[in-house]
Order: sequence, then C-alpha cells, then structure tokens
Amino acid sequence: MKQLQDKVMQEGLVLSNQVLKVDSFLNHQMDPVLMYEVGKEFVRRYAGEKITKVLTIESSGIAPGVMAALELNVPLIFARKQKSLTLRDDIIVEKIYSFTKQESNEVTVSKKYLSADDRVLIIDDFLANGEAASGLARIVEQVGATVVGFGIVIEKSFQPGRSMLLDAGYRVESLVRVASLQDGKVSFVEEEQE
Ligand code: G4P
Ligand code: NA
Ligand code: NA
Repeated sequence: MKQLQDKVMQEGLVLSNQVLKVDSFLNHQMDPVLMYEVGKEFVRRYAGEKITKVLTIESSGIAPGVMAALELNVPLIFARKQKSLTLRDDIIVEKIYSFTKQESNEVTVSKKYLSADDRVLIIDDFLANGEAASGLARIVEQVGATVVGFGIVIEKSFQPGRSMLLDAGYRVESLVRVASLQDGKVSFVEEEQE
C-alpha cells in the first residue's frame, strides 16, 4: 500500500536493525484518516470471504481493526492481555510470548463473543515473530471458528512470523513489508504490483 509505505518512509524511525518506531501514526498518536484507508484495504483484499468478526489484540491493533470492522459492518473483538488469571470457564485463554518484551501474557477473549460458525479476520499492527498472530489463531480455533486470514499493517519480513503463518496454511496480507532495517534505513520487499 503506497500511501502507508510513504508514511513509513517519512515518519518511521529506525531504532535498531530490528525495531521500527512509528509512534506518530500507529503506536501512540494515530492517524485516523490513514487508519480508515488501511481498514478499507484489508476489506478489499479479503473481498468475498464472508467475514463475521474481526479479532485483534490490545492496544495498537485496535485502530486498524476497528476500521476494517467498520467497513465490513461486523464487530471488532480485541483480546486482552493479563498477567495471570484465576481459573474461569467463561473465557478462552492462550499464552503469548513476546521476544521483544521477553515476557509472557495470558491473552483472553470472552466465550460470549466467538462461536464455531464465525469466520474471523485477524488484524495486528506489526508482524514480527508471529507469536501474537498465532496465539490469536489458537483462540479462534479453540472454539471451532475459522481463521479467514491475517491483515498486518507492517510486516518485518526479515523475522520469521510470515513464513511461520504461511507454513501453517494461513493467508497473510501485509500492507507494508519491511525487508530490512540495516544501517538506519528502511527498505521494502519489492512486490509485483500494489
Ligand atoms: P510477535 O507477536 O510477532 O512475536 O512480536 P513481538 O512479541 O516481538 O512483539 C511484541 C510487541 O512489539 C507487540 O506489541 C508488537 O506489535 C510490537 N512490535 C514488534 N516489532 C515491532 C517494531 O519493529 N516496531 C514497533 N513499533 N512495534 C513492534 P504489543 O506489546 O502487543 O503492544 P501494543 O503496542 O499493541 O500495545
Ligand atoms: Na500489537
Ligand atoms: Na505494538
């Protein structure tokens, strides 16, 4: 998505060979006009898939997620992160490990909001190692619902998340694919067409 790639070029800060900071439009301040375009682009890519729910994880997935849900006219669910849980039978729980933060969170969704006949689009702001993405897929599959695919705002293609999800048989649509952050510079994966 050209508009988003331009925004990353203009406003993205390369913090290291691994980390891209996009606090001006995605992770702190948000650009709602751009996020609406992001939401509409996910919906275009998944046209015809009869999506019934959008699922993301708090907090930065919520903005792109809600815009996709708005365009689809379906609910957005955001999974919650909690440190540790007392046993409850009304929630779906998965453990997600973050390499960036070196900690595990228990991520939960109420059983009220997902059922076996749901067709779910999973949205997130970043795809890195794929831990969050695959944890969200496990939540969907725990209730017997269908993962239609993933919609990622920024994919770091030099990290293993994308290939892990593709190897598991999922569809992955990333609006920007970062090939490298070497030498303080963002370079993108060359794609056939936009
Ligand atoms: P993974 O889920 O793909 O395995 O990634 P990882 O554990 O490394 O990601 C942990 C957090 O860091 C996630 O946000 C993820 O979106 C974010 N993240 C990963 N790589 C980058 C990066 O290069 N730049 C930025 N800005 N964020 C990155 P989170 O902890 O869930 O936080 P939130 O912002 O959604 O609240
Ligand atoms: Na995130
Ligand atoms: Na984040």
